[in-house]
Amino acid sequence: MKDVYILAFESSCDETSVSIIKNGYDEIATVVLSQMDIHASYGGVVPEIASRNHVENITMVIEEALTRANMKIEDIDAIAVTYGPGLIGSLLIGMQAAKTLSFLYNKPLVPIHHIAGHIYANNLSKPMEFPLIALVVSGGHTDLIYMKEDYSFEKIGGTLDDAVGEAYDKVARVMGLNYPGGPLVDKLAHQGSDTYNLPLPLDDDTYNFSFSGLKSAVINLVHNELQRGNEMNNVDLATSFQNRVVDILTKKTMRALKEYKVNNLIVAGGVAANKGLREKLEELCEKNNISLTIPPVKYCTDNAAMIGVAGYYAYKLGKTSDLDLNAKASLKLQ
Ligand code: KG4
Ligand code: ZN
Repeated sequence: MKDVYILAFESSCDETSVSIIKNGYDEIATVVLSQMDIHASYGGVVPEIASRNHVENITMVIEEALTRANMKIEDIDAIAVTYGPGLIGSLLIGMQAAKTLSFLYNKPLVPIHHIAGHIYANNLSKPMEFPLIALVVSGGHTDLIYMKEDYSFEKIGGTLDDAVGEAYDKVARVMGLNYPGGPLVDKLAHQGSDTYNLPLPLDDDTYNFSFSGLKSAVINLVHNELQRGNEMNNVDLATSFQNRVVDILTKKTMRALKEYKVNNLIVAGGVAANKGLREKLEELCEKNNISLTIPPVKYCTDNAAMIGVAGYYAYKLGKTSDLDLNAKASLKLQ
């Protein structure tokens, strides 16, 4: 069978990324240009600055990816691009580049949902086996998704308020840590003890999540202690917070696997890089005979390789688009 090469674009937030993926699993070249240092001084991503930087970087990132792959656009079969959800000004830059190349070189355009990309990142580690449950944990999502087969996404639960990564970043901020705080809280969490009595968030029989109560409990605790002139123990606070988050994520995920009679679990999104979550899932999956796949950390955070993988499967299923495709800040996974 002829090899299929996908040129992929991801620019939904603050990473400008271009990748070339062969046959849905073979990473030929990926370039990720992160703006994290620029946004860190503002304590979060500034949309206007993000899109300006995408404009400045995109051409260079495309050229670098093609150079590393030793390929020309003529060698590519289709062009995949994240069209949502994300920051609209950021999405538009990747979209414009993808649409321009699609038009100029007469290559099919394949629109990809950002979360489909995160899920398909797992195929870079190990071929995805269906049916599966995907736990999607990122700065914008906390979803449990049942997949019967390729490109069939049934959302069985999601966050009712803050996404888990968002809660990590806000808790980190109140602890005086830099943006993005998730990895820093994760690091501290491994050094302390679970001494703070924090609530287990939304411990009910649905598959939904809610992290705003836990986040507020942390913020109130810190403010009260500081008002009383007491010093917070950030290390123990990080451990206590992370334990609650990991407990509820793993509890609902394991229940979903059981109820849906599924033996394959994949984890996706930036928070999949979390060491505490990885360790607990590894332990539980081993005990329950579940095959677990979590991408290497570099494929957990935003990158175009994952879009190239999802792009391959979408292309094979004929999910291409006309050039009037629009970027969408919010977009349902389907
Ligand atoms: O998937 P991603 O790169 O961007 C979105 O699509 O949202 O996820 C970014 C989020 C941030 O909130 C960041 O703090 C969080 O993932 N994150 C972590 C860790 N690494 C990244 N959260 C907890 N522990 C980590 N090790
Ligand atoms: Zn993401």
